[in-house]
Amino acid sequence: MDGAKDAARINRRKTIDQKGHFMKILVLNGPNLNLLGRREPEIYGSQTLDALNREVAGYVDERNEVRNLDNQVDVQFFQSNHEGVLIDTIQNSPRAYQGVIYNPAGHSHYSIALRDAIAAVETPFVEVHLSDISTREEFRRHSVMTDVCIGRFMGKGAASYCEALDHLIDYLDSRQED
Ligand code: DQA
Repeated sequence: MDGAKDAARINRRKTIDQKGHFMKILVLNGPNLNLLGRREPEIYGSQTLDALNREVAGYVDERNEVRNLDNQVDVQFFQSNHEGVLIDTIQNSPRAYQGVIYNPAGHSHYSIALRDAIAAVETPFVEVHLSDISTREEFRRHSVMTDVCIGRFMGKGAASYCEALDHLIDYLDSRQED
């Protein structure tokens, strides 16, 4: 661990905590993604969900280094295997987050209830998949989430999450400028 970098990060965090201004983003993962690393590694890779989340958090740290202190990104992570818990999380998102990066996993292909939840809230959602669902089995090629999200990134593992974050941050930044 780089001590100087860590100290800089902690200081920045303290300054922001005093000012109390963050762009809060949730990275939300659906069913079976807790098994990453041992689940079909030939498709989803060998990275665990914890390692993926750490990579995404590191990417956000890098972006924060070149952002204004009063507009830093605060990223949080949540995974659930339960549709109702995911619906509650989406319904509560306007009170807690400015935007959500969402890998709906198997729900992508059929859950109208989750799609309805996204459509019901103002929070912008970006859909993400580790694999390229457009080139996989027929039943995976369609996602019911895509047209209620502001973008979709897939096929590049953790890099797809980082691309989704770039898209969401740019979108939120441009909304702030309006
Ligand atoms: C997935 C693709 C889905 O079809 C599958 O059910 C998943 C993961 C992906 O990240 O590639 O669980 O969303």
